[in-house]
Amino acid sequence: METQPLLPSRGVSRSRLALLKTAVVSVVLVAAIAALLSYSGSLWRSRSVHSPVRGPSFDGDGRPGRLPVMGYNTWNAYYCDINEDKILKTARLMKSLGLLDLGYNYVNVDDCYSEKQRNSNGDIVEDPEKFPSGMRTLTDKIHDMGFKAGIYSDSGWFTCQIYPGSFQNEDRDIKLFRDNWNFDLLKYDNCAIPFDNVIKEGMVGKFQRMADAIDNLSKNTGRPPILFSLCQWGEEQPWLWAKKISQTWRTTEDIGANWRSVMDILNRNSFITWANDFYSHNDMDMLEVGNGELSYEEAKTHFTAWALLKSPLLVGTDLPSASEETLSILKNEEIIAINQDPVVGASISPFRWGINPDWTYNATHPAQFWSGESENGTVIMLLNTLDEPADLTFNLTESPWLRAGRQYSVRDLWTHTDNDTAVRTFTAHAVPAHGVVALLLRDAGDEPEGLWPPCMRLNWCMAENGTRYDGRDFMEL
Ligand SMILES: *[C@@H]1O[C@H](CO)[C@@H](O)[C@H](O)[C@H]1NC(C)=O
Ligand SMILES: *[C@@H]1O[C@H](CO)[C@@H](O)[C@H](O)[C@H]1NC(C)=O
Ligand SMILES: *[C@@H]1O[C@H](CO)[C@@H](O)[C@H](O)[C@H]1NC(C)=O
Ligand SMILES: *[C@@H]1O[C@H](CO)[C@@H](O)[C@H](O)[C@H]1NC(C)=O
Ligand SMILES: *[C@@H]1O[C@H](CO)[C@@H](O)[C@H](O)[C@H]1NC(C)=O
Ligand SMILES: *[C@@H]1O[C@H](CO)[C@@H](O)[C@H](O)[C@H]1NC(C)=O
Repeated sequence: METQPLLPSRGVSRSRLALLKTAVVSVVLVAAIAALLSYSGSLWRSRSVHSPVRGPSFDGDGRPGRLPVMGYNTWNAYYCDINEDKILKTARLMKSLGLLDLGYNYVNVDDCYSEKQRNSNGDIVEDPEKFPSGMRTLTDKIHDMGFKAGIYSDSGWFTCQIYPGSFQNEDRDIKLFRDNWNFDLLKYDNCAIPFDNVIKEGMVGKFQRMADAIDNLSKNTGRPPILFSLCQWGEEQPWLWAKKISQTWRTTEDIGANWRSVMDILNRNSFITWANDFYSHNDMDMLEVGNGELSYEEAKTHFTAWALLKSPLLVGTDLPSASEETLSILKNEEIIAINQDPVVGASISPFRWGINPDWTYNATHPAQFWSGESENGTVIMLLNTLDEPADLTFNLTESPWLRAGRQYSVRDLWTHTDNDTAVRTFTAHAVPAHGVVALLLRDAGDEPEGLWPPCMRLNWCMAENGTRYDGRDFMEL
């Protein structure tokens, strides 16, 4: 901090008393300025910088975000080129194509819906050319069709496309979004971050401000809080803290409509699957199914991985021109059922990486062998990351969710067929390049008698008499 020099700079001599006076006055002045600064800071900073991250207090009926969000978001298909006609047309198609019935029940507006400036009251205003009927009319129509509605803002000065952000306007904006406009979900972005000497709360505090405003509004109105969807790109480990203040948070940078991006996001998420549960979802970003360079097999793999890792499933393609192939992927009921499992909130996780050693971080060749629980049995995902077809084999005991000594019936969740019974091991033959296999394994009783070796896991495999099976024979210890 800059202070007045206590001694005059040019050689004027002074008495000691005068010197002391100058010193006292300076100290008082500095203290007063400091007090003033900290007071003006506290005008907008309600949160003690040392308090731990606080979660939402609402736990009544209608608490949002138990299961991954499903629906539509405008960004991947239209970017800033949005308006009420396009959004309502999309909503009507979501319904007539059967997507609403399958659980895609949010219609979300992304960036670029507002005017560039707040009005004279300080409120965000919808762009009158894009939304001539107003936001409230739009959400009324969306609600009437049976959907919920989502809106977008940013935790900084501006949105990523430089429309007004909500920093220091959290209370005002959440009232507008929730009470006036009647939205059910807020996607909250991470652009235009205030200087450190303004914010003084870091990344967590910047998002906590809106979480507090959401909590306050729901306390004051008695209405369930808006679903809070953080878009913090995974740079500050949101899976550690965002899970306390929101229901879903982005884990990576924006997705691209190509295989490289899909594999990169899957690789990163393979290490943080533990953060998924009810009310708590790693968001791998909006779907690119139907977009860009993704082939049919690649789009299937993308959709399967997002669903089984319990990511939100937000359609992001232009529905009026969507192909039958695209729709058939988005409408796989058996895959959607696992994403929306009412009993198991956890994600699948890798049990073996495959061509790379376990725990390898590799953006082009992530883990290939995955499993997890579901209400109906054990879910398996097998991924061919290679550029040519491959056989993918696993032993049942490699998954913690499959029991030794039992056999399992195998349901193929893409061909919708009941395949063989798996005994000890399973092979998916000739999985296409960049293809996926999704299976549901259900217990089908004891495995046949007399199978050899006596343990599928040979390590410390022991007979009752204390002799150890070493893979070839029993040996005395
Ligand atoms: C929430 O309400 C509390 C108590 O009424 C108040 O102290 C706090 O400043 C409010 N916070 C926000 C973000 O509105
Ligand atoms: C479990 O099976 C039932 C009956 O087929 C089905 O309705 C439900 O969606 C399935 N749940 C999951 C998580 O697959
Ligand atoms: C990723 O894995 C593939 C297959 O093993 C390997 O060829 C490639 O070099 C790896 N990439 C990096 C950056 O290690
Ligand atoms: C399951 O059976 C169907 C029908 O025969 C077949 O097309 C599919 O490839 C099988 N799935 C696996 C993983 O082997
Ligand atoms: C599968 O089990 C067989 C027989 O015990 C064993 O030889 C093989 O190494 C196992 N494979 C894996 C990947 O664990
Ligand atoms: C111990 O039990 C194993 C498996 O039943 C058997 O093969 C082996 O001969 C027994 N060894 C002795 C010393 O009894």
